Amino acid sequence: MTILITGGAGFIGSNFVMEWMDHIDELVINIDLLTYAGNLSNLENLSSSSKYHFVHGDIADLDLMRSVFFNYKPRAVINFAAESHVDRSIAGPTDFINTNIVGTFNFLQSAKYYYDSLPDASKDQFRFIHVSTDEVYGSLMPQDPPFTEQNRYAPNSPYSASKAASDHLVRAWYHTYGLPVITTNCSNNYGPYHFPEKLIPLVIVNALAERTLPIYGDGLQIRDWLYVKDHCSAIRRVLASGRLGETYNIGGWNEITNIDIVKTICLILDELRPRSNGSSYTSLITFVEDRPGHDRRYAIDARKIESELGWKPTETFSTGIRKTVQWYLDNQDWVQNVQSGAYRDWVDQQYGVSQ
Ligand code: NAD
Ligand code: TYD
Repeated sequence: MTILITGGAGFIGSNFVMEWMDHIDELVINIDLLTYAGNLSNLENLSSSSKYHFVHGDIADLDLMRSVFFNYKPRAVINFAAESHVDRSIAGPTDFINTNIVGTFNFLQSAKYYYDSLPDASKDQFRFIHVSTDEVYGSLMPQDPPFTEQNRYAPNSPYSASKAASDHLVRAWYHTYGLPVITTNCSNNYGPYHFPEKLIPLVIVNALAERTLPIYGDGLQIRDWLYVKDHCSAIRRVLASGRLGETYNIGGWNEITNIDIVKTICLILDELRPRSNGSSYTSLITFVEDRPGHDRRYAIDARKIESELGWKPTETFSTGIRKTVQWYLDNQDWVQNVQSGAYRDWVDQQYGVSQ
């Protein structure tokens, strides 16, 4: 039995591959384009495993993807590959359209070509899991209930619009062509191997380097945070028992403002790695210009996956964030490796060269 993962060198994908191989004895094929966000060092412990095989490539490459499908004959696909950073999508949306929309379209075509060739018994087993985001639902007002699977799509950033488009394509390939798909829409993840352009790792890395901690606007925007390993367990559950053609919201019931996230990280660092000048890391907090079109609040109603599939997160935000800060303290080499020239260029462009 073989499973095909796309984007497995990124943040969630690499956590998923490691968790998968801890739980399930099955060949894993990981196909990844290795953009700035893909780091094979995340998976270096697996490189000698006979149960793991890496393919360097683009999900949009029809010939490559068809040959991967026919060579390895996966029983399931989990599609993590995407451009994923909202600020980058604002600065330059082209890659988001190419990978998230055109790439997903081509990948669906390759998957359909393979699926159509399968005998009936293998068709019954096959699954195409598409990993998506709660950002497709747009922004909530303070009094609104959390997003359910019935919320209408109302994406506001080039990133969320491109993910919404990919979700629609996946849905259409189920209804039109019978491809056995399931889509998951998850809230903000955090944890090990998170690229330090996103809020939580950026704040940890900046604080340790005595750089300012940039808060967009008033810092009162709300995100619903989920520890990455809980997202991975939810995807495994969806693959095992999810209903075809359905979507499942995944979230940790952890709505927190950005400013509270940053203060929490500062207080944990004050305890674990006190500053040499004796002051709190909170003194590095700096309010900066807001993100254009900044969504005010995301919140996930996860009752469908909880009641239908019996999934629940295992980490609270306070246990997960402590583990995450500790991981960054213990893995300074990883942080240094990913802070390549391309990373420095992004930080200079987004926050100014003074950072
Ligand atoms: P990431 O940016 O860390 O990783 C994306 C990976 O995809 C990278 O390894 C990159 O090299 C690879 N990739 C990009 N374009 C590719 C292409 N054309 N072909 C093959 N590989 C390609 O992203 P992430 O945070 O790990 O997110 C993974 C998925 O989960 C994405 O689809 C994202 O939309 C979704 N998601 C993320 C979050 C979050 O909080 N990070 C929350 C909900 C859903
Ligand atoms: P981010 O981690 O980029 O995830 P997303 O935009 O997908 O939710 O940002 C999380 C929140 O933190 C979001 O409201 C934007 C805010 N933010 C900052 O205030 N400062 C920063 O430097 C970054 C990267 C994000």
